[in-house]
Amino acid sequence: MLLEGWALLLSRSPSLAQALEYRHKLIDAAVARHDLDVLVEIPGGFSRRAVTWVADHGVRAVEIDLPHVIAAKSARIAAAGLEEQLGGRHSLVAANALGDGFADELKQLIGEARRPVVVVEGLLVYFPPADRDRFLASVASALQGTDGLVLADVYTSARRNRRAFGAKLLKFGIRLATRGQGWQSSWPDDAAVEASWRQAGFTQLGTVAAGDFPDLALPFDESRAPGVVLNASCSRTDGGVVADVATSSQVSS
Ligand SMILES: C[S@@+](CC[C@H](N)C(=O)[O-])C[C@H]1O[C@@H](n2cnc3c(N)ncnc32)[C@H](O)[C@@H]1O
Repeated sequence: MLLEGWALLLSRSPSLAQALEYRHKLIDAAVARHDLDVLVEIPGGFSRRAVTWVADHGVRAVEIDLPHVIAAKSARIAAAGLEEQLGGRHSLVAANALGDGFADELKQLIGEARRPVVVVEGLLVYFPPADRDRFLASVASALQGTDGLVLADVYTSARRNRRAFGAKLLKFGIRLATRGQGWQSSWPDDAAVEASWRQAGFTQLGTVAAGDFPDLALPFDESRAPGVVLNASCSRTDGGVVADVATSSQVSS
């Protein structure tokens, strides 16, 4: 452990906790700069983001996850006495993101919103590539005709090999969380990330970087984070999203 600490300090690599916290904060900052009318988290897990957005900003929010997680989260919200404060603006939806009708289900949940933000945090690595690509196509299809945005953490083997230490820690954490099933998919490189998202139907792609947010102080070298946060949309070119993407870096690792 001591050696690991020194290695992290010397390389300015993030610890696993730092990498996860940074990813979460970076996505939070990116959500905040989009003038959203609904926040959708796939999966919601035990993230507080959706509840915070409803309570602090009055924005409608939807959290999608598997039934047992939705049941547990619903119980936690009830135990915290938050139901009344959230009113009808917060929904917990039990659904399989890989299910056949998921695109239609998601479209219905987005409803009339014009500027939805869909956060896909901590999910894609668990899906084998074919499932992952089908899921991305469902999300793109549900966002058609809106000025919506997807924010997702993505990983490439190329980056993992270059920044081996932080990525190994994340991989180890995922293996623990999935009881040995481990990291199912990452793309080989940036070109493969771009091809896969475009094939799914996304037309605008960029990455979100800490440098875009002066308040986001990082205790490590950002280039050593194990993954990047992708900013993707399939919006019309006259919408505001394109401006968001244009301020971000290109897809790169
Ligand atoms: C690592 S957690 C991430 C949760 C949250 N986004 C966060 O960052 O804290 C992964 C979540 O994915 C959910 N999940 C896995 N497969 C899913 C599927 N096919 N459909 C919906 N949710 C799924 C799990 O139930 C779990 O809550």
